[in-house]
Parts: sequence; structure tokens; C-alpha cells
Amino acid sequence: MDAIDVIVTKRDGRELSREQIDWVIDAYTKGVVADEQMSALAMAILLNGMNRREIAEWTQAMIRSGSRMDWSALPGRTTDKHSTGGVGDKITLPLAPLVAACGGYVPQLSGRGLGHTGGTLDKLESIPGWRASLSNDEMLDVLGKAGAVICAAGDGLAPADKKLYALRDVTGTVEAIPLIASSIMSKKIAEGTGALVLDVKVGSGAFMKTVERARELATTMVELGTDAGVNTVALLTAMDRPLGCAVGNALEVTESVEVLAGGGPADVVELTVRLAREMLQAAGVSGKDPEEALKDGSAMDAWRRMIIAQGGDPDALLPRAAESMEITAPASGVLTRLDAYGVGLAAWRLGAGRERKEDPVSFGAGITLHAKPGDLVREGQPLMTLHADETSRFDRALAALEGAYAVAASGDEELLPLVIDR
Ligand code: URA
Repeated sequence: MDAIDVIVTKRDGRELSREQIDWVIDAYTKGVVADEQMSALAMAILLNGMNRREIAEWTQAMIRSGSRMDWSALPGRTTDKHSTGGVGDKITLPLAPLVAACGGYVPQLSGRGLGHTGGTLDKLESIPGWRASLSNDEMLDVLGKAGAVICAAGDGLAPADKKLYALRDVTGTVEAIPLIASSIMSKKIAEGTGALVLDVKVGSGAFMKTVERARELATTMVELGTDAGVNTVALLTAMDRPLGCAVGNALEVTESVEVLAGGGPADVVELTVRLAREMLQAAGVSGKDPEEALKDGSAMDAWRRMIIAQGGDPDALLPRAAESMEITAPASGVLTRLDAYGVGLAAWRLGAGRERKEDPVSFGAGITLHAKPGDLVREGQPLMTLHADETSRFDRALAALEGAYAVAASGDEELLPLVIDR
């Protein structure tokens, strides 16, 4: 077997055999297949696709490139959620402790942000003392104490994906549905969760811009999970406007704590509760109802236990950006447009995200939204506040927001429903 034979098979639109898939993933992980050869193969897959068997075998080969986690020592069932990423998507933060308060165990391996979408670990790292890197024993310990753990995936989990994802990022091959689905699902299956709810985002702020593409990705991932024995469900949810009113690391932690305290923006609460119910149902756990756990303080208790068990101080003041700037409504009327991508790009330029993997993020930077699409606003009323550590960042953020919001005398932009489909 050699790399050229595998590349040419896919380049010519033919199916890869199981032997070819197993060999190429193993050889790439070991450095026998070079980056330029894997890039050519990834491009051939993007252009010619893969069938269900090929995607399943590709995913299994990526899982076998590393170790699998095992939660059988826990006294209850595990259930997890994965979002394909969006702007203001802080749902994991209130969701994991909420599900724990209702009787599920949540082993959440999360990532950092790159580009205009934020990363769960960056958000939590704004809490003084909180640690993202845990050993397997530490993860079990936090799960035992809090019922939920949110941490970084160790190097041993699907290392083939780690290498391939970095390569796709710089070769224009991120968007291939077989590669996205196998990348996400190899990590989730190796993570060892018993049940999985996928939140596949749709709209300008998401990877998938159309409902059709999102549905194809969701279906592919549900099939992969189901075939691997993980009870998997997917929701398609809106990412044409930001989720909630906070975009940026510490700002999103604050909003998440508001939700856990029984408040918070309606869309964040609705999606958190819906996903919690789906996660509990997928795992077959029939404990307390999530709405009740938000009201009676048990979700907040689980959050505090989880943060403390990972070295964080849940009562600490969170970092704030030194500078702020208000954007006001240009006229009176209805806010008809608040584009997720524009807001995400602006928050990124304010310092909430990183340009290169090794860059630090500013914990206090981001955007507070004072109005959401459909709200009535008066001329001069604040629409949003920009936060940054240096005033020099405001100009580039303002450029990103050009055309991203609109106020009209009347009328409404067609917004996607928050939950589009299941
Ligand atoms: N997230 C992943 O983990 N992999 C992808 O390919 C895309 C998003």
C-alpha cells in the first residue's frame, strides 16, 4: 500500500477500501504519510465525498489512533453535548452542571476558540484558578464530586484527528462534511460517553450556513454515533444571530451564572433546558426536571462544586476590559438585523478570540448586546457595548459591525426559529 494509490483512488471518485483507510490513518499518525499527501487526500475527499461505510471506517480508524476513555466506575449514566460552534454559544457552561443536578454524569471534553467562534475552555479560564488540563483520575474525581467536568482533551484522544484538523485548517479542507463528521465523532466516541446530543448550528455565525448542509452533517453524525453504540440525537439550532446578550469569555461566564441563578436571556435559558432534557432522555435518566433544578439552586450548587473541584474560585471577580465604547441606535424603530458573523468577528477583533493557535485571549474583551432582533429601540439608545483592553481595537471591530445590524421603522427580518429541527 502507498499514499499515492490511496490519493488516486479518491481523486478518481472511487471508494476507499477498509484496508486503504486503516493504512492511511495509521501511517499518517506515525508520520509515514507526509502532510502534503494527506492534504491532497483531504482535498479529494472534499471534492468527491465519501459514502456511509467509508465515513464509519475513517472514524473508527481515527479512534484507534489513540486511547478510549472509560467511565464504568461511575455510579450513573454518562451523557454529553457537542455544539458545532457559534457566537455567544456559552450553553455548555450552564448545561453540564444542570444535567448533573438532574442525575446525569457529564464528561465534557471541550476546545479552545479559533476564528470568530469562542471556545468553552477560554471562557472558563477567565475564572481565577480554574484548570482545563486534568489527568483521567482527576476527571473521575471531579465527576464524582460534581457530576460534571469540563476540560481539555488529552493528547491520547484521537491523535490522528488532532494532526488532520490542523492540516485542514491551513489547506481549505475544513468544510468537507465527511471530515467534519468523523473529526467530531471520533473524539466523542473515544471520550466514552453513553449518550450524545449534537447541537448543529445553522446560519452566518456557524460552519453550516444552510439548513440543508446542517441536516446532512447532523444525519451523518447521528449515524456514526448510533453505529458505534452511542445513543445520539441532533438538534438543528439558529446561529443567524448571537445567542444571549454576552459575547466574549468572562462576559459569557457571567451570563451563564445568571442562567444558573434562575435568570438570564430567554434564548439561552430555552436552549439550555431543551438540550438538558434531550441529554437526560438520551441517557435514560429520569431525575429532576431541568427547569426545577434551575429554580431550586441545585444546578448552581453543581456549578460551584465543579469550578471548585477544578481549582477555580466561583466567587472571584472576573477580569474586565479596561476600555469600553457604546454603539447607539441610529434611528427609532425595530432592530431588524443583528448578524451573528459580524458580531462574532467584532468580538474576535476586540481580543476575545485569537488569530493564531498560540495567541492568548483577552478574558474581559467582547460585546454586551442591549437589544436583540425584533426589539423596539429609540434613536440614541445603546444597542451594544464594546469591551477591549486597548482603544485601538475599536476601529477594526466597528468595521466588522458595518452592515451587521439595522434598525427600520417597521418590518421584520426572517429569523430562523431557535430550534429548527430535531
Ligand atoms: N470541530 C471539530 O472538532 N472538527 C471539525 O472538523 C470541525 C469542527
